[in-house]
Amino acid sequence: MLLFAALHAQVKHKAKPKPPGIAASIAKGKDVYMQTCVTCHQVDGGGVQNMNPPLIKTTYVLGDKTKLITIVLNGFNERVEIEGNTYSNVMPSHDFFERPGYCQCFNLCAQ
Ligand code: HEC
Repeated sequence: MLLFAALHAQVKHKAKPKPPGIAASIAKGKDVYMQTCVTCHQVDGGGVQNMNPPLIKTTYVLGDKTKLITIVLNGFNERVEIEGNTYSNVMPSHDFFERPGYCQCFNLCAQ
């Protein structure tokens, strides 16, 4: 509960106004992220150069949502170039995810 309150306070400090409910969604996304994605994409979403790509503000995260959801659910195994680095590691599928879980994650990454 304390963690939630801290996150909430952080989100409130951002200048851009967010739609109602998004702060709570982002806070839940952080839980999911910390359990599932953090090992590869790191705490700040910055990734590991040439191994696991960054998630923060990549065209994948900010772009086509269908593609984004497909990546997370089915995994991803293509050689891709993101911000000048090449990534060809395999991202496993996360098809055990419930819809709210990954949506919350993306709200977190896109902020
Ligand atoms: C086992 C390590 C691993 C885990 C766990 C993992 N990923 Fe990934 N992820 C990768 C790798 C490696 C790639 C690049 C795959 C490629 O090049 O084909 C990737 C690519 C991506 C991409 C597309 C590229 C980008 O930078 O936008 C997204 C979005 C993404 N992951 C989101 C997630 C989310 C959300 C989770 C948690 C639910 C997660 N990943 C968990 C390793 C991982």
